[in-house]
Formats: sequence, C-alpha cells, structure tokens
Amino acid sequence: MCGIVGYIGNGSAKEIIIDGLKKLEYRGYDSAGIALYIDGEVQVRKCTGRISNLELAAADPEYDSHIGIGHTRWATHGAPTDVNAHPHSNTEGTVAVVHNGIIENYAELKQWLSKEHGIRFVSETDTEVIAHLIGIYYDGDLTDAVFRAVDMMRGSYAIGVVCSHEPDKLVAVRKDSPLIAGIGKGCNFIASDIPALLKHVREIYLIENNETVVLTKDHITIYNQNREEVKRDVFHVTWDAASAEKEGYEHFMLKEIYDQPKAIEETLNRRLLPDGRIRLDGINLTREDIENFSRVYIVACGTAYHAGLIGKYAIEKFAQIPVEVDVASEFRYREPFVDDRTLFIAISQSGETLDTLAALREAKARGARVLSVVNVVGSSVARESDDVFYTWAGPEIAVASTKAYTTQLISMYLLALHMGSEKGCLTPEQRNELTAELMGLPAKISQILKLDAEIEAIAKQLYMKTQVFFIGRGTDCAVSYEGSLKLKEISYINSFAVAAGELKHGTIALVEQDTLVVALATQGKLFKKMLSNIQEVKARGAYVVAVAQESCKQLEAHADCVIYIPDCRDEFTPIPAVVPLQFFAYHVARFRGCDIDKPKNLAKSVTVE
Ligand code: M6R
Repeated sequence: MCGIVGYIGNGSAKEIIIDGLKKLEYRGYDSAGIALYIDGEVQVRKCTGRISNLELAAADPEYDSHIGIGHTRWATHGAPTDVNAHPHSNTEGTVAVVHNGIIENYAELKQWLSKEHGIRFVSETDTEVIAHLIGIYYDGDLTDAVFRAVDMMRGSYAIGVVCSHEPDKLVAVRKDSPLIAGIGKGCNFIASDIPALLKHVREIYLIENNETVVLTKDHITIYNQNREEVKRDVFHVTWDAASAEKEGYEHFMLKEIYDQPKAIEETLNRRLLPDGRIRLDGINLTREDIENFSRVYIVACGTAYHAGLIGKYAIEKFAQIPVEVDVASEFRYREPFVDDRTLFIAISQSGETLDTLAALREAKARGARVLSVVNVVGSSVARESDDVFYTWAGPEIAVASTKAYTTQLISMYLLALHMGSEKGCLTPEQRNELTAELMGLPAKISQILKLDAEIEAIAKQLYMKTQVFFIGRGTDCAVSYEGSLKLKEISYINSFAVAAGELKHGTIALVEQDTLVVALATQGKLFKKMLSNIQEVKARGAYVVAVAQESCKQLEAHADCVIYIPDCRDEFTPIPAVVPLQFFAYHVARFRGCDIDKPKNLAKSVTVE
C-alpha cells in the first residue's frame, strides 16, 4: 500500500522518480506526488488520480533536479485529495516526506505539535506529523533530525526525506513497511519494491526493520536503531527489466496468466531433483521435526488463503497431519492451539501483508515453527520465518493474483509430498509418480492458454450478468472461491462461491431463470454428486458454465457450456482448473470496461489491518 521512490545522482530525478512510481502504481493509485530540490527550495507537485496526472502537473521542463522523492498513494488517513497526497512538508517547506504505512500515535503527536509548537496542519494525513517533527528537530543535521523524529513515532513506516538545507542527502527509514536501496554508479535510489529500480540497478540493499539509510550520490550508509553503522550484503536481482513490463500484452494480468507455464516450471525446477526427490533449500525441516508435528496451521489472506485451502488437502492426504486453514485477520484474534509441535505456514505473494505478518508473530510467540511460502525475496514475512519456501513466480504486478497463486499451489504440493515421503506415508515410487505428474503441468497449462479466445467468446455472452455463483466439491470448492474472488475484484460483479453440497442449505434460494452458475466438476470421485448439484440449479433455470477434465463428456448433456482442461490426476486439478476462471474474469472485466490491473479500492500489497 503506497509506493515510494527516491533518487540522488546526476540524472533527471523527475524522470527517474516518475518512471519508478509507474512501476509501483500497483501498490496504490488514488493520488501521487513528487518533491524535488530546486534553487535552494524543496518544490512539491502533487495531485489526485494516476501517475499520468502527476506527469502533467510536473511537466514544466524547469521543474527538475538531481535529487527528489516521489509517492503513489492508497489512502488510509484522509480522503484521496490533492492536499492529502504525499509528499508532505513542514510549515517552512524545508522538509518533504513520503510515507508508506501508518503512524498509530499521529493524533497525540499532532496535538503536541499544535500545542507546544503552534503548528497548523493542512492535511488530514498521519504523514504530515513526520514532516513537522523532522522540521522542529532539524538543527543542521538531517540524519539526526530523522532519528529524533522516528523516536517519537509508533506504527509502521517506510519514509523518504529530503531537506532544502542538505541538497546532497536523502534519508530513509524502515519499520514494518518494505524499503530497498538501489546501488547505482554515481547515483543511488530508494524504493518500496524492486520493479521501480529494475531499469537502473540490479544490486540492492534490503533495508531491515528499524534501520535508517542515508544516501548521497556516491555512498549508501545504513544505521541501526542505536545509530551504529551496519554492514549489509548486496542482493543481486536476477529478473530482467522485461519481467516487470507488459511485453505487448494489454494488461499485466493477461501477461501474468500467460506467464504461468514458465513460472510453474521455475518453481518446480528449483525444487525437484532428476531422481524425483524434492530439495527444499531454505527449509531445514528434518524427518524428526516433521514426525514431531501434531498439527499444521496455514494462515493467509485473499488468494493466498485459497492456496492454503488446497494446501490443507495436500498435507492431510500426502503427509497425514491434521491441518487448519485460517484467514490471517481472524487467526490472531482467537485462541489457536499453537505450541512447539505446531508447524505454522504463512502464504503471501508480497510477504508484506500486515494481517499475515501479525498472525505469524502471534504463532511464533506461542512456540510454533514458522515456515513461509512467499514470492517477494527478502520481504518481511520471509525474514521473520524460520524457513522460507520461495515461489519464484517473478514479479506479479496486477492486483489480481494469478501466477503467484498457481506457484503457491505448486509449493504446497511439493511441501506436502516432501513431508509425506519423509514421514514414510509415501514410498519413493509413489512420490516419483506424483512429482512426474507435477512436471507435466506446465505443458497442460500451455494447452489451456489456447482456450483464451474460446473463453473470451463465453465472457462476451455473459459479461452483463449482475450476479454469479461458483460451486464445486472438494478441491473444486477451494478453486471456486478463487474463481469468484478473481471475478468480483476486477469486474465488480456480485459473485459468490459456495460448496456445491451447501447450495440446498440456503444459497439455492437465489438461483432463478438465467442466473449464471460456474460449476467446477473435475473430481472423479465426487463427479456424480456434482452432477446432481448442477441438475438442481438447472432445474431452477440457471445458466451453467462447467469446467471438467477432457475425457469427461457427460456434462455436455447438463451444462450450457463446458470448458475442458487436459486430463490430470484429481489431486492436481486445482492448477489447470483455475486458469479458465482467470481468463473468464479477465475478459468479463475487459468487456465491462474495468481498470483490470488497478481495480477500485484495492492495492497489491495490503500493509494495514
Ligand atoms: O501479498 P499477499 O499474497 O499476502 O496478498 C494477499 C491478498 O491481499 C491477495 O491475494 C488479494 O486477495 C489479491 N488481490 C487477490 O487477487
């Protein structure tokens, strides 16, 4: 939520910052702003709307500099208005601040600043207090003023600061919100995420919690909370700049749907040995540890939670350990049975989701072994976990998650198979047979990608529907949840997923003539039951789009339209089955003229509770 970029060097700060902000727009996009040092002043331009609006507001060629900071916002405190947009300044306009996160004690600080220092606030934001704090503490040393301001602040923040008195210095601080520093030649950068910097640098420092980083054009110095200098290893980014670009696709979401065979292959190749064994580097679970676990909790939000639901099926089936799956925002507020025989698995694409992070901390405090399944390398969830399973999906930019989800599923399967074979629940032959099937999935997904036009035609016929139900049984039920979330978040259609067997306990009351029902029917042993559920909704006039395995032609007599996925072992159908649903959501949203990559009210990385 919110993206920040900062630059110091000899190039055009305006160009570099605005370009970086465009790459971070997925983090928030209700307003944007930039602050540049020009002729002894820090000059701010900011406005509501997208970065393209900011480009116009900052178009004046005279408005440029060698140093500056920029921000793209997802509003928390105060409506998305020009005034509330970042950067925020102190009264004299000598300090400008961009901020991602929330200052929890901002009301107290605001009161104190007004009362003791006579400060008048112009915005409704929590961020403005930071600028004033730095302003009142400034005594010729920006770094010192930032340290003193930060001492007063509670909450989560990544901030970037520039000051008109020190035009050759940029200061940034991280606590619970992501921050990286990019190492250039004769220039340096800060950003919330790697894509913002990919055009310029491949070498970065991952800034840790409670660290302050001071950048000049030639040096980056990192300090801990005690103001001691700390050394940090350089992190080499392996993605190329193109992986964070649309590469000719109309939207990032479409590109990321198409990325899936490659992404899944990468996840598998990094973990599977040629003899079928699973290599879990970054994970130090011994056979003894696995045998000792009495239960597993999988905790996540949104799409990652849906991946957790499949993880439950996989771990219970292959490793025979009871699993509970919970949404992170609920987990931490109940009394979960977590102890030192619990394996706690956090799933998160961004690794910065605050609810997931808070649940992880809660589980850790209760003695659990914490393993995370994460996409963003070096993110908070990864760093606070005992073991990390990186999904290696590459950057996912669209707010609607696609390739992160399918690689999370692959990761959960690999983990379950590894635990199962270590525990002796699976023989090496059984494990090899299952891993061989996983290896075949990228080719099957490639086949499904060829259905793009067919699914587009179905979407064209149905995009005006105002209500949709997704139904399924077993793993198909979990896939229904994901299909439904995908559709609602980008098309704004009221869509709802329900276990097919639950329909008759209430939801079927809403099914009437022409109600659209998407029915997942990929599970052999549940097929007959699913068929009955399809007949039940058909009998009430529903229009049924079914998803089934290729060899199962029986549905043609019952559904209005059937989308076929290649035949596959029932355990693994969630991966191919979700792809048509991703396409469906995408095309429906496109026909409805929605802003697919940046749906309203949402952000890619949800760093507030
Ligand atoms: O970064 P995370 O995986 O922790 O994010 C969790 C959810 O916010 C995320 O999956 C969200 O539901 C997506 N917009 C779904 O497409």
